[in-house]
Amino acid sequence: MQVTMIGAGYVGLTTGTCLANLGHTVRCYDINAARIVRLERLDLPIYEPGLEEAMRRAVADRRLSFSSQLNESVAEADAVFIAVGTPSGPDGGIDLSHVLAAAKQIAPHLKRGALVVVKSTVVVGTARRVREIIARERGAFDVRVASNPEFLREGSAMADFMDPDRIVLGADDTRSRNVLRSIYRSFEKKGVPMVVTTTGNAELIKYSANAFLALKIGFINDVADLCEKTGGDIAEVTRGIGLDPRIGEAFLSPGPGFGGSCFPKDTRAFAATGREYGAPQKLVETLIARNDQRKTALARRILKEGQLQPGAAVAVLGLAFKANTDDVREAAALTIIPALQKAGLRVTAHDPKAIGNARQFVQDVTWADCPYKACAGASAVVILTEWDEYRQLNFGRLARTLSGDAVFDYRNLFEPRAVTQHGLRYFSLGRAAAAVAQRAGVAAIDTWDRRVAAPGHA
Ligand code: NAD
Ligand code: UGA
Repeated sequence: MQVTMIGAGYVGLTTGTCLANLGHTVRCYDINAARIVRLERLDLPIYEPGLEEAMRRAVADRRLSFSSQLNESVAEADAVFIAVGTPSGPDGGIDLSHVLAAAKQIAPHLKRGALVVVKSTVVVGTARRVREIIARERGAFDVRVASNPEFLREGSAMADFMDPDRIVLGADDTRSRNVLRSIYRSFEKKGVPMVVTTTGNAELIKYSANAFLALKIGFINDVADLCEKTGGDIAEVTRGIGLDPRIGEAFLSPGPGFGGSCFPKDTRAFAATGREYGAPQKLVETLIARNDQRKTALARRILKEGQLQPGAAVAVLGLAFKANTDDVREAAALTIIPALQKAGLRVTAHDPKAIGNARQFVQDVTWADCPYKACAGASAVVILTEWDEYRQLNFGRLARTLSGDAVFDYRNLFEPRAVTQHGLRYFSLGRAAAAVAQRAGVAAIDTWDRRVAAPGHA
């Protein structure tokens, strides 16, 4: 089948490349001509593990190509996927302007019988609006629009796409449903569950899935705070609850608050939809506020527990919103770094992939090409992203490199003893035993200290 992707970003490129390697002939179109020029040279504008190799394969097989010419991109396509961004509008609701503009732009070029597939994450009713826009442009033309939300994660996008838990196919007529099914036939044959439903349900499924996953993270972050106050250990609590299959162990890692291009904007859009339709999503409204507060609260904690004076230097390790991506959209670093600077601290920072993107959002930072260089002379180090490279940190070396002694690990990457045995103070999330041993100057923390379990004992 001839497939065109409108939008060559994380989703458009991953989906396009994977569909090409599954045997379809795919063309990726983007309004950003400079991006297409880079892609034609196979110079990837994003970092995504495995994507470049797969893309090279698909291009060599003549199954994947790139274009900045809309007409030639759309005219021959049997299916045109819209995979453009859907950012937040000023009130938190979704900004559909890119999706609706794309619909208007492709309309004149669609061939008879082509299916338009909304891949972008959109609020309920959007496929219908896209259909109306194309119908207005094309008059009596038989317009078919489907919804096929995407569930891949950045950093594991290729594997997520090729080995999905399920595929959601939203269509309001039999022919559209059949075209969608044939695009994904190889998955259906492999036994991947297909949720074949209406476009409206498909749109609701996508937001509900993201909101639910984000709620799990928000919940566990609050429980981590409770563990710190009551002498608990979040790792044991998550294991204890996660083994219940109704809860599950995934998405229960405490962190500095969720970020990225999806959960923050999608929870806001979900809440706005609830308000618009008179079905308030109060849990999600609270989650959004708590997640924003968490980032600033964790910045305050660095100032307080680190006992940092204005002029002191802090090393921030990790700028991406999660490991294995160069994406910094709504990353914790973008809130925490300015908060530290506002308090008069100097910030040095390292990230294996995301410095180029972070430069656009934070200023007056000294960028380092290795974590130890970032830490040289710093009073404290703050770990915000769970890169494997940071898991290998040598704390003996780090202790000699730092001028101070405070380590804030907001991803719980280390056993407390691995850090404190080098004379460093270690602050992690939801591990009260570590905090107590820290205060008592105890290096070895092997056992749960029942003395701290008494209510009121911080
Ligand atoms: P992105 O910002 O990486 O890419 C979007 C691309 O669309 C850009 O290259 C932009 O130039 C292009 N574009 C904008 N308007 C256009 C137009 N009119 N015609 C052609 N190209 C146009 O975005 P993304 O991360 O790929 O996300 C795309 C959509 O997929 C969003 O709705 C997002 O919520 C959803 N989604 C993203 C992920 C993810 O992990 N990033 C996962 C699932 C779903
Ligand atoms: C998320 C969803 O996981 C995907 O299924 C979905 O397709 C995508 O959004 C989307 O709709 O765009 P992504 O944003 O790439 O994917 O990354 P996640 O792995 O979900 O992480 C999101 C944020 O939550 C990150 O900041 C991460 O560090 C944080 N997180 C995640 C935690 O703090 N704890 C966890 O246990 C898991």
